[in-house]
Amino acid sequence: MAESMQGLKRTHRCGELSAANVGETVTIMGWVQKNRNKGGLVFVDVRDRSGIIQVVCEEGTTDAELLAKAASLRAEYVVAVTGKVAKRSGAVNDKIATGEIEVLPSELRILSEALTPPFQVEENSKTKEEVRLKYRYLDLRRPDLQRNLMMKSRVMTLTRQFFSEEGFLEIETPMLGKTTPEGARDYLVPSRVHPGCFYGLPQSPQLYKQLLMCSGFDRYIQIARCFRDEDLRADRQPEFTQIDMELSFVDVDDVIDVNERYLAKIFKEVLGVTVELPIQRMTWQEAMDRFGSDKPDLRFGMELTDVTDLVRNCGFGVFTGAIENGGSVRGINAKGQGAMPRKKIDKLTAFVKDYGAKGLAYIALQEDGSVKSSFSKFMSEDEMSSLISAMDGAPGDLLLFAADKNKVVWDSLGALRVELAKQLELLDKNEYRFVWITEFPLLEWSEEQNRFVAMHHPFTMPMEEDLQFIDSDPGRVRAKAYDIVLNGNEIGGGSVRIHQDEIQEKMFEVLGFTKEQAYSQFGFLLDAFKYGVPPHAGLAYGLDRLVMLMAKQDSIRDVIAFPKIKDASCLMTEAPTPADSKQLEELGLEVAVEEK
Ligand code: AMO
Ligand code: AMP
Repeated sequence: MAESMQGLKRTHRCGELSAANVGETVTIMGWVQKNRNKGGLVFVDVRDRSGIIQVVCEEGTTDAELLAKAASLRAEYVVAVTGKVAKRSGAVNDKIATGEIEVLPSELRILSEALTPPFQVEENSKTKEEVRLKYRYLDLRRPDLQRNLMMKSRVMTLTRQFFSEEGFLEIETPMLGKTTPEGARDYLVPSRVHPGCFYGLPQSPQLYKQLLMCSGFDRYIQIARCFRDEDLRADRQPEFTQIDMELSFVDVDDVIDVNERYLAKIFKEVLGVTVELPIQRMTWQEAMDRFGSDKPDLRFGMELTDVTDLVRNCGFGVFTGAIENGGSVRGINAKGQGAMPRKKIDKLTAFVKDYGAKGLAYIALQEDGSVKSSFSKFMSEDEMSSLISAMDGAPGDLLLFAADKNKVVWDSLGALRVELAKQLELLDKNEYRFVWITEFPLLEWSEEQNRFVAMHHPFTMPMEEDLQFIDSDPGRVRAKAYDIVLNGNEIGGGSVRIHQDEIQEKMFEVLGFTKEQAYSQFGFLLDAFKYGVPPHAGLAYGLDRLVMLMAKQDSIRDVIAFPKIKDASCLMTEAPTPADSKQLEELGLEVAVEEK
């Protein structure tokens, strides 16, 4: 039967004990990691979030009843142990922090027994993620996940501390609000009091934080939950956390300055990593041209080369056709990969097709000087050799080309570059390469909606020098928007906001909103701006993504206590679930789809 802890008080966490405690009597409480019974000698490893300590019971020294109890322990039992800390009599275990010492118990209580867990609680578990997520409370006992969440907690504490010292105020904004224009689908919450009406859960606190600037709070910060109903990936969850901020009377450089100092602080204090300031800046155009991505990973080269002009009049129809369609031809040089088997190249071709490419043309330069290529038969020898030299091709290199509309070429080569880097193990998780991407296009053409849409959001300020093109050539207007990118991940983004009526109205016009539509969606903000609005700008980090990279994890699920899977469901609670008929009736709702 489970015993009470009455009369006992924990004195230390397991991992806090060290050789400095030798001779002291301590009380630890935690879970049994494992229990080895060597006949008359029982070793019990006790675990809590700080680490593991070995408890040793030995016939002759340890009370016989206690010894028997220790021998009966099973994995994941919760125990309390009081005993003396001693230097290890046996071999020192340098794999664990407390490997020099052990506890010789004078009292052992079983605070709770445990069923045999469906998987062992251990670091780097090989158990399938679905199983682990179903029993997430057990999964979260694993030291790696515990470290991740402890790191996240530390980052949140430092964040509050840093921004508070910089004069930011932490202000909460509603969860039940009007929908926010971040571009994803909203999660809706039905209102009981107003049947047929819905709140939208915030995709971000964007509008509220701009209103707080109107109210004069000047510098705002919030660690805010955000909700977006979009397709999930390893770096996307339907609910996630932003470190969200807004500042008044500032321009791009002010936002960047305070955020660089913030990043430097958390990386130093949490990881001991020095971030060299200022962080490199790159315009969006340069990022696309060189890396085919607005979130370039700068830990390796393999940059894109634009060969459009060179192949404009060549004999290869795939190239010339793409160019005639207003597209481009670009390539990357996978150095030293000239011997890559055809099968592997075919796999890369299949890979880029996911990004809209119709194919991947290649030139494999063999060490012996010969050339294998999917399109050399369409080219003259001169054309081939000038193409190879433009690509800086040397014997042993593999040159890969995409020909299409710019966006497709960038997307596919940008992704291919990262895929190759993964395959060739060029990515060092211990290296942190930051870059600010600036001067984003204000607008992007949506084929789907057949109109321009805001690349960031409709409140983003155009660059003053580009305002002249807003009617004649809207696609050319750049925005005062910036993203902070770390190792190929967008960890944050923001912009200077429009605070002049005329520009905001123009923006809505370009986006195809009528005045009425703009007012029905954002009237409260537009009204607020009529009563004295300071120039303002802001930024938001994806906290989960930031901590994922700091903790060297591949998925944000590993830094979120209770994440959802790809279809936005929770394997542990089984949410979402159907509502019962009474609830629906109260809300005035009827469900039109049949239950699965
Ligand atoms: P944005 O939409 O770029 O900007 O979001 C800011 C950051 O939030 C993170 N993020 C996500 N993380 C996990 N799961 C998701 N589904 C997800 N979506 C976004 C990213 C991203 O960089 N209101 C603006 C900010 C501003 O202008 O101040 C905004 O929300 O790391
Ligand atoms: P095809 O003439 O279609 O057999 O194509 C010859 C080579 O060009 C093959 O290696 C294709 O993968 C490649 N290819 C086809 N379309 C494209 C494209 N849009 N961009 C780059 N390479 C392509």
